[in-house]
Amino acid sequence: MHSKTALAALLAPAAVSGQLNDLAVRAGLKYFGTALREGSINSDASYAAILGNKAEFGQLVPENGQKWESTEPTRGQFTYTQGDITANTAKKNGQGMRCHTQVWYSQLPSWVRDGSWTKDTLRSVMATHMNNVMGHYKGQCYAWDVVNEAVADDGTWRPNVFLSTFSTDYLSLSFNLAKAADPDVKLYYNDYNLEYNGAKTDRAVELVKIVQAAGAPIDGVGFQGHLIVGSTPSRSNLATALRRFTALGVEVAYTELDIRHSSLPASSSALVTQGNDFANVVGSCLDVAGCIGVTVWGFTDKYSWIPETFSGQGDALLYDKNFGKKPAWTSVSSVLAAKATNPPASSSSSSSSSSAGAPTTLTTSTRTTTTPPSTTSSAGGALQTQWGQCGGNGWTGPTQCQSPFTCKKQNDWYSQCL
Ligand code: G3I
Repeated sequence: MHSKTALAALLAPAAVSGQLNDLAVRAGLKYFGTALREGSINSDASYAAILGNKAEFGQLVPENGQKWESTEPTRGQFTYTQGDITANTAKKNGQGMRCHTQVWYSQLPSWVRDGSWTKDTLRSVMATHMNNVMGHYKGQCYAWDVVNEAVADDGTWRPNVFLSTFSTDYLSLSFNLAKAADPDVKLYYNDYNLEYNGAKTDRAVELVKIVQAAGAPIDGVGFQGHLIVGSTPSRSNLATALRRFTALGVEVAYTELDIRHSSLPASSSALVTQGNDFANVVGSCLDVAGCIGVTVWGFTDKYSWIPETFSGQGDALLYDKNFGKKPAWTSVSSVLAAKATNPPASSSSSSSSSSAGAPTTLTTSTRTTTTPPSTTSSAGGALQTQWGQCGGNGWTGPTQCQSPFTCKKQNDWYSQCL
């Protein structure tokens, strides 16, 4: 089956709950997903249970298992043991998959990184790698991150073996090779700090234009979204950065979202700020026609790359270390529920009116959600609609639900009509 059609079928909201993927789909996104940490899925039943719940996460990405060092550690010897952990988990649970990643300077085996290459020999190595790995996962991925992090933090081209061999021609070469390896999958450029709309974002815009000018296929740009509590741009500034890319005719997505505390433990007010930051990011995706989904880079603070890289920082995810939902989960759930319940009139046509080249499966029907007429209780108070908030610390809105829904407590900060 065609991969995009397959994903749409997998993500169809048959029975919708108050969980993140179900809400995201009702709000018009294709998915709410998470990275899968290969070392944890078979050793932690609580982790596996939440991760495998399609209502919560409709799409999975291997955190490390599909990278070059995992799939072709030795030239010509391909191994899919790690990558297949995610593919098999997604298959078992009816979830979709994003695939990550092909041409990247990091987690690149030394035989590639330190090799002595001509254009011809490196092109051949890249083609062999893509044909094998993308061939192995053909039909299972919604998108591949074809080129990852080609821009340095200051906005210059990031030095790597591909740049030194081909100059920036490696960009269009990579997308052309990827298209040949799998003609049906979405092809993405993926990078971090694009959210700040600075020199790095400018260069990534140029990258898309370079690839397009060369006549090579590029379908999307991934905003990784590795952000910091209290320093996350506003919802409208984030939307502005996303629109710079959709204006070029590519779709966008948040692909590795986490928002870390720069010091720990986080205070209760820092937890609220983190929730607001998450809501701004997810909200910006909802605001932009052509933003097709959000993926978090892990879901529990028990497992994250951050403490290893940024000592003393972390707790960047939606669930705490004991798998309790954090205020950030509530914020994300609320912003999705708000859109799912009250879509602005224009949102139902956002995909069809977009210049973003959004895939055909992002149809008007997936953007159309109905708003039940507001009613009042017999006592005269407003009744909340399905999915809407009906309680929680600081909540001053309706506390009763329209029939047949009842107000269910999700956590201290959020109750929802389900
Ligand atoms: O596989 C070895 C294992 O054999 C060894 O025992 C262990 C000891 O530390 O290390 C393992 O390798 C680790 C690898 O992840 C696999 O788990 C590395 O130390 C560790 O540095 C590596 O980190 C990954 C990082 O990419 C590498 O750049 C993180 O898990 C992963 O979350 C992170 O993901 C990247 C995205 O791919 C691209 N965007 C940025 C993002 C965060 O850095």
